[in-house]
Amino acid sequence: MQTTYIMVKPDGVQRGLVGEIIQRFERKGLKLVGLKQIIPGEKIAREHYAVHSERPFFPGLIKFITSGPVVCMAWHGKDAISVARNLIGPTNGREALPGTIRGDFGMDIGYNMIHGSDAQETAEFELGLWFPEGINDWKQDSQSWVYE
Ligand code: RTP
Ligand code: MG
Repeated sequence: MQTTYIMVKPDGVQRGLVGEIIQRFERKGLKLVGLKQIIPGEKIAREHYAVHSERPFFPGLIKFITSGPVVCMAWHGKDAISVARNLIGPTNGREALPGTIRGDFGMDIGYNMIHGSDAQETAEFELGLWFPEGINDWKQDSQSWVYE
């Protein structure tokens, strides 16, 4: 079992896609274990995207992520990290297949609406960064009909 960090970025919030995005994770069978809206400051944004700090698009990325509210989520399930990345689709919405979130709603690499952790270590780092208060441990009865 894994827990992954998922975040609706400011463009997704501005476009009113929060409900649509949450629904896709929920109906897939992942369990929601953390949810909140925040307006990220520069510090947390820079820490989150530290791996891209030398890239030319970094300043624009930080400006974008801090431009308004994001919706922070933690989703739990078997192979949750790769399952979520598959629901999200590749970085560029024009190349993402229909059926994925970016494939259905995105046209630009910079405005791709959603972030998902890409590995176990990054998931742990990102969950600690965005949910320092911790996430929720709870039993969802319907999970017994999601996994046999
Ligand atoms: P994310 O981390 O946000 O889930 O996206 P990702 O893994 O698919 O893409 P990644 O390579 O980690 O890039 C992080 C975010 O930086 C922006 N980006 N812009 N203008 C550009 O060439 C460019 N390249 C990346 C995107 O918003 C991407 O999601
Ligand atoms: Mg990434």
